Amino acid sequence: MSVHEMKLSINGKVYEEVVESRLLLSDFLRENCGLTGTHVGCEHGVCGACTVIVNGAAVRSCLIFAVQVDHHEITTVEGLSENGQLSPLQQNFKQCHGLQCGFCTPGILLSTKDYLDKTPNPSMDDVKEMLSGHLCRCTGYDGILKAIEKTVNEKRDNQVLERS
Ligand code: FES
Ligand code: FES
Repeated sequence: MSVHEMKLSINGKVYEEVVESRLLLSDFLRENCGLTGTHVGCEHGVCGACTVIVNGAAVRSCLIFAVQVDHHEITTVEGLSENGQLSPLQQNFKQCHGLQCGFCTPGILLSTKDYLDKTPNPSMDDVKEMLSGHLCRCTGYDGILKAIEKTVNEKRDNQVLERS
C-alpha cells in the first residue's frame, strides 16, 4: 500500500494527513476531514454533487485523488458562510426555494460561487449553461435559477451603489 503525507488548507484551516495513493478527494474530505457537506452521487463526474473549489477553480472531487491537492487551497460548502452567517448566495437559495432534499446543493453553490467570482454580470442563458453540468432530481431548477438571478442582481446593485 502506497501512502503519502500531505498538507493543505481547507476553508482556511490547515490539515496534515497521511493518505493512500488511491484515496479520492471526495472521500478524503468526507471521511478524513469530516466535511460531509461534500456529497457523493454518481462518482463518475456526471452529477456535480461533489464539486469543491481547488485553488480558485471548481473541481469534481470524485474525479481526482487527494494527493493531487497536496499544498493546495480548498473551499467546501462548509467554508461559504462567514461568522455563522449564510453567504448571500446561500441566503437566496433559502429564500427562493432553490433546494428540496439538498443533495445537489453544495456542488451547485460552489460551482455558482466560482462562476460568479469570474463572471460578475452573466446572462441567465450563461447561468443555465453553467448549471448544465449539475443534476437536480427535485427542484426543476426554477428556484435555483431564481436564487442565482437574485444574487447576480444584488451584486450588480451593490456595484452601482459603490460607484455612485
Ligand atoms: S459524485 Fe462527483 S460528479 Fe457525481
Ligand atoms: S434539491 Fe434534491 S437533488 Fe437537488
